[in-house]
Amino acid sequence: MRSIFYVTTPIYYVNDNPHIGHAYTTILADVLARYHRNEGDEVFFLTGLDEHGQKVQQAAQKRGVPEQQHCDELAPRFSNLWKKLEIQNDDFIRTTEPRHVKAVQAALQKVYDAGDVYVDEYEGWYSVAEERFITDTEKDSGHFRDVKRLKERNYFFKMSKYQERLIDHINAHPGFIQPEHRRNEILGFLRQPLGDLCISRPKARMNWGIEIPFDKDYVTYVWFDALINYITVPGYVDDPKKFKKWWPASIHLIGKDILTTHAVYWPTMLFSLGLPLPKTIFAHGWWLIGETKMSKSLGNVIDPLSLVDQYGVDPVRYYLMREMVLGQDANFTMESFIKRYNSDLANDFGNLLNRVSGLIGKYFNSCVPKEGKAGAAEQPIHDAADGLAKKIEELINAMRVHEALEQVLVLIRNTNVYMEHQAPWKEAKTNLDRAGTILYTATEALRISAILLLPVIPAKAQTVLEILGASGTEPEWGKLKAGTKLKSHAALFPRLDAEGKVITKT
Ligand code: MSP
Repeated sequence: MRSIFYVTTPIYYVNDNPHIGHAYTTILADVLARYHRNEGDEVFFLTGLDEHGQKVQQAAQKRGVPEQQHCDELAPRFSNLWKKLEIQNDDFIRTTEPRHVKAVQAALQKVYDAGDVYVDEYEGWYSVAEERFITDTEKDSGHFRDVKRLKERNYFFKMSKYQERLIDHINAHPGFIQPEHRRNEILGFLRQPLGDLCISRPKARMNWGIEIPFDKDYVTYVWFDALINYITVPGYVDDPKKFKKWWPASIHLIGKDILTTHAVYWPTMLFSLGLPLPKTIFAHGWWLIGETKMSKSLGNVIDPLSLVDQYGVDPVRYYLMREMVLGQDANFTMESFIKRYNSDLANDFGNLLNRVSGLIGKYFNSCVPKEGKAGAAEQPIHDAADGLAKKIEELINAMRVHEALEQVLVLIRNTNVYMEHQAPWKEAKTNLDRAGTILYTATEALRISAILLLPVIPAKAQTVLEILGASGTEPEWGKLKAGTKLKSHAALFPRLDAEGKVITKT
């Protein structure tokens, strides 16, 4: 049966250029979406931009342009990067769009009508420079300028009312917050009494946001606005049929720093709205740059665009998916990038293609030979290739993407070793049928590997399938037809030197 798979990324603040962290989550969502599409599931993949709030307002002010103009000018930097990265998202939400404003206001009204909103005066230390309330400890630290005592009237969402229900839900649904250590972190957080959430900002202080439908002097807090995007697009206010089909989301992919907003604020908001909770919230770790945090001030921000321009999209996608163990932090270094590229893509995958196409060219006039009488030597390759799709499916569903890739690479490596041992170039001299069997076996393992790599390296895997003249994308053994004419090709992944430059043969 076709299942429904609705996957989301966080919506990114339009305050700067997208960096490798943003690219990572978006590629991960794309990989999952492609796997599920290839399996025949119905997929909806949503990404977009968070355009309201103080961060974006300040970025616009810094550039000296009105907020909306700022957003309109920066949005293409994200959408263009996604095109370059071969991202196949089904929609792209921008929170300043009317469809979203409508959904946020409807949600605010619903929460208000449910009796879950109250007005309160809050008095505390307010930093004019930071434009936010600070704690007593923060004030005492002396790090904040222009601190004054401020009393402010605001709207609060009764988050505390749903604390027990949320704990029960987490306990009853072990897969709701993943990985497990993040789930424990949230359960730990929920052991303390949960406060209520301030969901308004007086326009007099901050006006770049969505107006609260029950008080025109206020806009809503940027997180109340942003989280709603996940229901705006599948039709929360305007398309009940579509909404019923897609909601709840199968998985919200997020970074570990935005876990509380997703695993506490969002579920309590959904409880109040009377809507089911997403099936899974998955928090991945951070990309560190050679073990330090990536930051503008350190000048170590990795620009995904220049990487893609230099190495092509597939190596970037492959590296990010292969190198990060989902849930843990990972280190980005050019050394490890070059190493992965050379070992997995150039030496293992690229080399297998070169060998089979070269030998089939030489001994079989570039036509796939007959499988013939496969024997004991072929059995392990045959079995591993035939069972691989099932294994990959399990690993992807368990969010072990790096292991899924490793499994494909194991087959590719073993096939190279098999070729080495069986030496079809020697057999060809005395027993052409035997050489044909070996080359068929290796080519079929390559075809199945390419199919299973399609979600991660869509362009190059497709190229391999075209070279092999493979018509479908069935990962089962024996679909490669004898007699198929192979196409000539250039090196799939030309090797890189230690500086990352392509090594050209002279
Ligand atoms: N706008 C909010 C999200 C709202 S979702 C309803 C936001 N935006 S953000 O642009 O600041 O960050 C978006 C995502 O980028 C977060 O998931 C964050 O974890 C991720 N990353 C930022 N730096 C990162 C790395 N160095 N590595 C991996 N991901 C990182 O928060």
